[in-house]
Amino acid sequence: MALHKGPEKHEERPMSVNPFFGEANPVGGMTEAPPTHRLPDTPLPPSTAYQLVHDELMLDGNSRLNLATFVTTWMEPQAGVLMAECRDKNMIDKDEYPRTAELERRCVAMLADLWNAPDPAAVVGCSTTGSSEACMLAGMALKRRWAKRNADRYPGARPNLVMGVNVQVCWDKFCNFWEVEARLVPMEGDRYHLDPQAAAELCDENTIGVVGILGSTFDGSYEPVADLCAALDALQERTGLDIPVHVDGASGAMVAPFLDEDLVWDFRLPRVVSINTSGHKYGLVYPGVGWALWRDKEALPEELVFRVNYLGGDMPTFALNFSRPGAQVVAQYYSFLRLGRDGYRAVQQSTRDVAVSLAGRIEALGDFRLLTRGDQLPVFAFTTAPDVTAYDVFDVSRRLREGGWLVPAYTFPPHREDLSVLRVVCRNGFSHDLADLFLDDLTRLLPDLRRQPHPLTRDKDAATGFHH
Ligand SMILES: Cc1ncc(COP(=O)(O)O)c(C=O)c1O
Repeated sequence: MALHKGPEKHEERPMSVNPFFGEANPVGGMTEAPPTHRLPDTPLPPSTAYQLVHDELMLDGNSRLNLATFVTTWMEPQAGVLMAECRDKNMIDKDEYPRTAELERRCVAMLADLWNAPDPAAVVGCSTTGSSEACMLAGMALKRRWAKRNADRYPGARPNLVMGVNVQVCWDKFCNFWEVEARLVPMEGDRYHLDPQAAAELCDENTIGVVGILGSTFDGSYEPVADLCAALDALQERTGLDIPVHVDGASGAMVAPFLDEDLVWDFRLPRVVSINTSGHKYGLVYPGVGWALWRDKEALPEELVFRVNYLGGDMPTFALNFSRPGAQVVAQYYSFLRLGRDGYRAVQQSTRDVAVSLAGRIEALGDFRLLTRGDQLPVFAFTTAPDVTAYDVFDVSRRLREGGWLVPAYTFPPHREDLSVLRVVCRNGFSHDLADLFLDDLTRLLPDLRRQPHPLTRDKDAATGFHH
């Protein structure tokens, strides 16, 4: 969450209340105008409170036009009904809500099978708030596993985690919060994600693991997880270092199993000890649910698991939070049951078709150069063509907002800080029809943009709301 501060002087203005909000007493609302940044002294009628909050939220962007987010913005009404029916259930109360707990267990079992665990019964896994929490848990397991194996040197030795510079911010957080050195493989030329060989070269006896991303938040490309494992196999042969791999499949772990069945990236690779995904991304569930799975108990040290008995029963848990909504887990089970493999394949294929087609048509406009084509994650990044000097990607992002489209523009990390891109994330619900409308709007903007004397965006940080 954004870190907020207390109220400023100018924020002391009370809300303005329409007399109609008073219902039975139309002028009541006018005298009861509540402050915005201080807890009101007196209550409001629920209809007034509802209308005030509702009206303010009208200024939020339209989530379906938000091409910045990976997170699900449309589910079937039946899923919404189930979620409403479960909104009072706390996921942690597993004894009180044993059926919700059972649905979570089934989801873990289904994912173990989907990700080709050689022994699904040995897999341990849990739901989380999202991939960030799942990555924290996976990182903690890697660190503890390493610490146990190096008990003679730790504390003392400083653990490190090797990954591409393109990792999502959750991995920077993990390294910061858990005091692990982040060893980042930089981008190089047209390689916008981790290079297996370079990653292996960064490993040493203090490396707790290597993270492979399926796929990259920056451009939607899959990192070569199998090649990464092969490079680490060779390292082990040379040096004896046995480095485990965690796959951050926040998006791709719910795409590749359906569309890229021949791609070997999961528990089929013995070096992959754990995998996470966001149920709320291509798992097709409203925010927030994620999943973390470990190959076996050996990968998740037992001492990290907490057992609580004060809710009845003896319940093993591995989580950062205690309470969490159960509704999203129920919705995940609903999606699994509703779609099955064929349904997921159909949904993801149509999303990829939209992405590939839209990327190709943007390229055909002539003003843009594609970095990726939407044929891995249904996500693509593009920049302006070398001869375009009148405007830049930040101008495009800003102008697209006029039509309600939210398309982030951002610069790349070391060594490609010179490169600024736009990124389009296609999701279920962003249909060919909507993509046509998007392209129409972009095409309509171009003559105006080409007439600019030079790029107009001064404050590039403020130009886009996107943060990795
Ligand atoms: C590769 C990757 N890992 C982790 C995350 C964090 O996921 P969440 O938003 O579910 O916490 C993201 C989010 O975009 C991501 O793309």
